[in-house]
Amino acid sequence: MARFWRPGSERPRATLVDDEEGGVLFVSAPPSSSSSGFGHSSLERQRQRLPVFKYRDAILYLVENHATTIIVGETGSGKTTQIPQYLKEAGWAEGGRVVACTQPRRLAVQSVASRVAEEMGVKIGEEVGYTIRFEDQTNPSVTVIKFLTDGVLIREMMDDPLLTKYSVIMVDEAHERSLSTDMLLGLLKKIQRRRPELRIIISSATIEAKSMSTFFQARKKDLLHAAEDCVPSHLPAILSVEGKGYTVEIHYVEEPVPDYLQAAVHTVLSINDKEPAGDILVFLTGQDDIDAAVKLLREDTQDDRRRTSGLLVLPLYSGLSRDDQGLVFAPTPKGKRKVVISTNIAETSLTLEGVVYVVDSGFSKQRFYNPISDIESLVVTPISKASARQRAGRAGRIRPGKCFRLYTEEYFLKEMPTEGIPEMQRSNLVSCVIQLKALGIDNILGFDWLASPPPEAMVRALEVLYSLGILDEDAKLTSPIGYQVAEIPLDPMISKMILSACNFGCSEEIITIAAVLSVQSIWVSMWGAQKEFDEVKLHFAAAEGDHITYLNVYKGFLNSGKSSQWCYKNYLNYQAMKKVVDVRDQLSRLLRRLGLALKSCEKDTQILRKAIIAGFFANSCHLEEYSHNGLYKTVRSSEEVYIHPSSVLFRVNPKWVVYHSLVSTNKHYMRNVIAIDPSWLIEAAPHFYQLRAPNLAPC
Ligand code: CDP
Ligand code: MG
Repeated sequence: MARFWRPGSERPRATLVDDEEGGVLFVSAPPSSSSSGFGHSSLERQRQRLPVFKYRDAILYLVENHATTIIVGETGSGKTTQIPQYLKEAGWAEGGRVVACTQPRRLAVQSVASRVAEEMGVKIGEEVGYTIRFEDQTNPSVTVIKFLTDGVLIREMMDDPLLTKYSVIMVDEAHERSLSTDMLLGLLKKIQRRRPELRIIISSATIEAKSMSTFFQARKKDLLHAAEDCVPSHLPAILSVEGKGYTVEIHYVEEPVPDYLQAAVHTVLSINDKEPAGDILVFLTGQDDIDAAVKLLREDTQDDRRRTSGLLVLPLYSGLSRDDQGLVFAPTPKGKRKVVISTNIAETSLTLEGVVYVVDSGFSKQRFYNPISDIESLVVTPISKASARQRAGRAGRIRPGKCFRLYTEEYFLKEMPTEGIPEMQRSNLVSCVIQLKALGIDNILGFDWLASPPPEAMVRALEVLYSLGILDEDAKLTSPIGYQVAEIPLDPMISKMILSACNFGCSEEIITIAAVLSVQSIWVSMWGAQKEFDEVKLHFAAAEGDHITYLNVYKGFLNSGKSSQWCYKNYLNYQAMKKVVDVRDQLSRLLRRLGLALKSCEKDTQILRKAIIAGFFANSCHLEEYSHNGLYKTVRSSEEVYIHPSSVLFRVNPKWVVYHSLVSTNKHYMRNVIAIDPSWLIEAAPHFYQLRAPNLAPC
């Protein structure tokens, strides 16, 4: 059982910004006096109580007069839901123009769009809409406020390079420094030079406001070709919205905890025993450990009614169905205590009302890329102090709260890094390079980056794209493959697999596989039920591996008449399966648009695997000869990897395999694995394998 102590209190505050320096304009906003013509319904009163409301006039004034406005404000102050509405009310969405607001996360896009539609009393998909990959809930003739992921906005530039339909683009959650946000900021800076009438708002919970502002200082001469009366100031304005966070008591564990999941569960139970009413928000890392914790807590609820019968335990991660999302945001029923177990999506992207206690595991799942081994994996990583403070702040929203940190104070003070590393500097850049190339940006190293990507990663990306036949020797997109790959909104390796399948005559099957790989997981959590899960999986399992197994699952789902009961019986996530059907439809339409044939190979799994290898040849591994524990080594860098327990090839251990992705905890685990013949690797990518494994022998 984790034991805590409390060294003192911390009051989360909105960051205050420096005064005028280096050409940066600081504006201290006078409280807004106007009531802006709002009525007095309950939702409108809620809107007016948000901290950002006092700054309404100031925000509108700044956006009117500055090409770029940077808005810093605590989570929950109303930035995301209110500012787009203020802009609309002030006329920025008239005359066919649209106000856009980007988010790094899909779930946040859906959730804030629904909330704004509700506040405006309109149906989602009409005046207020959203677009995420494979889901467009907008109506071009009526949508005036549009929420979308930064990735989708970058994609829109392929058709409309200057994003002409938008009058204001709000880049939200900029402090997250996601790969797409960083790319988008660089691209918007370019667009701003050609479109002086475009307004950009950068908003976030905490931000290096000054460096962001320096980045966006337009040169005056760049704006001169606009009519005099519409030239906005080239100096970015910075506005800090004061929050009203309450004091949060911080408690640390006295000794490091061996298992943060168990510790989190115990801490929740102990809060429920000892602390007065108030919801609990627990930060874990991903779907796996969240589902596990939910299960443990729900089991406990059943075992011991007296202790935990008042607990309403809910998971929160991207990929959750709309209904499950609804439960998380719905008011807590009387007499219950809500426990939301979340990824770091609840750190700043989403506000949960009613939270008084936060349990912080100190970890999150992050992408890490090693350009030397050329391996990108999702790794459970310690968070930064900045994140820890954000997490704690979530407890002080409605009244003074408490945060239980599952790490020691000494660790927090001495070892926890101050800031996180931007995703740009720890990612595989293959997708980023191909998108910039498709937008006509050839000199990628010379691109105006907010933080430069590591040159080794850039070189690796160019090398991979060259070996996939997507770039030519002059690093230009090849025709037609390169251009087609850029058109498909998927990872370039998957896109290449689909295009090769068109040549191999197995595109019908491959788009099903691609659709399954694009949803988070089609299986429901198997935590603690590995045996039952293995038995169920046997119905579908194909000896060739997971990808072929997915085809069997998909066929079964169609044969069942897309039944939710059938999914339930087979440990399958019904929402995920419906999404697979939808994504598959969209991919088949896309292929038709590209003029590519849809063909089935019937049951030729060899052809299917060759098509997969055409995209994923770089992810090949061989079983270590004397390994008794399933140890594999990657061909390209001799990295040690294992088959993930969720794979149908777990414990089967074929000699040669190709994997789709890696997740890492204490070991690297391969997810979605197929058995292959190594001679297919040389067939698919002779240049790649001659370089790396000249004596690759067929088995
Ligand atoms: O963006 P920021 O963190 O500054 O705040 P916001 O997301 O605009 O949230 C403002 C308020 O709207 C909060 O009180 C949220 O609880 C509420 N909200 C909600 O009730 N449901 C949502 N889906 C999103 C926000
Ligand atoms: Mg927000």
